Formats: sequence, structure tokens, C-alpha cells
Amino acid sequence: MYASEIVAVGMAVPDRIVTNDDLSKLMDTNDEWITQRSGIRERRWVDAQTTTSDLALRAAERAIAAAGIKKEDIELIVMATLSPDHDFPGTGCFLQAKLGLAGCATLDIRQACSGFLYGLSVADQFIKTGMYKTVLLVGAEVHSKGLDVSTRGRDVAVLFGDGAGAAILKRTDATNSSRVLSTHLHAEGAHAQELWLPGPGMNLGAERVSRAMLDEGLIYPKMNGKKVFAHAIRRMAEVLMEGLAANNTKLEDIDLFLFHQANLRINEMLAQELKIPPEKVFNTIHKYGNTTAATIPIGMSEAVAAGKLKKGMLVASAAFGSGFTWASALYRW
Ligand code: UT7
Repeated sequence: MYASEIVAVGMAVPDRIVTNDDLSKLMDTNDEWITQRSGIRERRWVDAQTTTSDLALRAAERAIAAAGIKKEDIELIVMATLSPDHDFPGTGCFLQAKLGLAGCATLDIRQACSGFLYGLSVADQFIKTGMYKTVLLVGAEVHSKGLDVSTRGRDVAVLFGDGAGAAILKRTDATNSSRVLSTHLHAEGAHAQELWLPGPGMNLGAERVSRAMLDEGLIYPKMNGKKVFAHAIRRMAEVLMEGLAANNTKLEDIDLFLFHQANLRINEMLAQELKIPPEKVFNTIHKYGNTTAATIPIGMSEAVAAGKLKKGMLVASAAFGSGFTWASALYRW
């Protein structure tokens, strides 16, 4: 019987720091509103030349080096992003070429904020069945090029940032204590339009992209913030408890919680509701904003670097986002 072990992680963020005060020069917003409502103080934005697969490459190279593997050992690349380099082919293909690899399988995951945990589940299943021994899993986003940075888009634009995180998963014996214990995935497509990108798209009339679509701002993400907020807390709590029950584990047994980073208030309310001590929740949102598929591997990387995530620790992750989709994972580091 096989299991998968997360043997190493890596992350990459652009050098350019964009503060809340910087945003207030582009739109009608202010540091107080953003900090109080979301906990975000700054985020990173790429330059014009950098794309999602570039950030993914940097994170992947760091994870590969930290794992001490040859890049040629990678048999599958799972790439989670909602901000692809192009509509097709998948960003995993561009990443593969930039890594200088050819022949291994690539698979893109489009489950937005839940993308990394969906990808972790996919990687875990391929390893458990014996099909692959080594998988590269990446979550990467370039949001800054796709946001409406005028006052019209301020409710969304202030929340998102660019970044990437990567993990190397390797086959291990199912008796190894360091392993992915379980993953739990859900979706409810009836809420797809509560947080979405309407255009360009095949569902908008005769043309996939039109001048009117640009004028109406349909090429920018739209969000029903209050509804997303309420569902996020409920679903993350539910799916976390589902993971604990599946492993006969109690909340007190978890050493560290690495939640998706959409809003500090969501994670604080979740911890309060479940009576999780705040020091067990590792957050990075104040520095990077919401980097969607990248928040959890960035959290892993920063927690390792800060000495907060150590070998043998029992970790729980949960995420919620567009779709709606939500997911959790329990793993021993
Ligand atoms: O990864 C998963 C995806 N996202 C999430 O999980 C986000 C979930 N939702 C949220 O985090 C919150 O709903 C927000 C942070 C987006 C908004 O907080 P809120 O407390 O729900 O504020 P609101 O949308 O009710 O807006 C309150 C006011 C409005 O003004 P009026 O109508 O009361 O006059 C907005 O127009 O704040 C205004 N507003 C802003 N003001 C300054 C909206 N965006 C901004 C802004 N700066 N950036």
C-alpha cells in the first residue's frame, strides 16, 4: 500500500510591494478600510513581462532543490491556477517547458481558491494507485494584470495579489507517519456566479470577446462579498471537521492550521467558532493578500522558514472559493 509524502516546498513572490496607500492613489479606498475589513497591508504585483508560469517556475525550482531530487524524476505536474498564461493549453505545459522537461504528464486544475487542495488530492490519488512516484504540485497566480484597479473594481482589487507555491510529493509506504492522511473535496455550482469572471466567454452572445464586454468591465472578476464570506466560514468549518472525523482525530490533536488566505477575518472567525487557539493558525495574508491557489503552499513555505512547521507535526488545511468549491486536507509533515 502506497501513500504520498510532501517532501519539500518552495515559494516565489514578485519583488514589487504594493501597499494599501499605493492603491488609494489608483482608486477611492484607504488603508483603514482594507486593513479593518481584510487584514491585508500589502501585496505583490509582477512586472509587465512576468507571467503565471514564471512565478510557478521559480517556486518549483526551489521545491525541487529543497527536495534534493532531479527534475527528471517528476512524472506528473499538477498546476492549479485561475490566472493562466493563456486560455489553452494549460499553464502546466508552459511550466513544463520552462523547467526544461518533456514527456511527463501535466494537468491543470481550475478550482480557484480550493485549487491547491484539489491538486493535492489528485496528486495523492495518482501516487496511492501506484501510477506515479514523484509529483510536482504548484499553485500560482498573476492577479494584478486582471484586476479592475479603478474605484468600480475596488471591492475585489484590494484583496488579491500575485505569488506561487510548490510542493514535491513522493511515494512512501502507507505505514510512514509523514504522509497525506486524507483529502476532502466539494463544490456547489449553483453559486458559480457569486464569485466569477464573466468574460471573455462562450456564453456571452455571438462572439467570445467583444468591445461591449470590455466597456462593461465583464473581463474583471465580480464577487458578492458578503455571501462568499458567510459561505466560506460555514464550509471551511464543515470540511475541516469532515477531515478530522475521517481520521478519528480531534481539533486539539492538530499542531498547525494552514488555511486559505482570503480574509483575515474569515480565519479569525473560523478559529473562534471552532475554539482553535490563534497561535495554531499560520496566516500570511497581511503580506501577500489573496494569492488564490498559491496561499496554502506559500503558507507551508513560510511556516517552514519560520520554524513553525516541523517534521512530525499534524497539519490541517481548508480552503473555500469560487465555484463555490471547498476542500480540506490532513497531513503529517
Ligand atoms: O478566496 C475566496 C474569495 N473571497 C473571499 O472570501 C472574500 C469574502 N468577502 C469579504 O472578504 C468581504 O465581504 C469584503 C472584504 C470583500 C467586503 O467587506 P464587507 O464588510 O462585506 O463590505 P461591503 O461589501 O458590505 O462594503 C461596505 C462598504 C460599501 O459602501 P456602502 O455601500 O456601505 O456605502 C462599499 O462600497 O464599503 C465600500 N467598499 C470600499 N470602501 C473602500 C467596498 N470596497 C471598498 C474599498 N475601499 N476597497
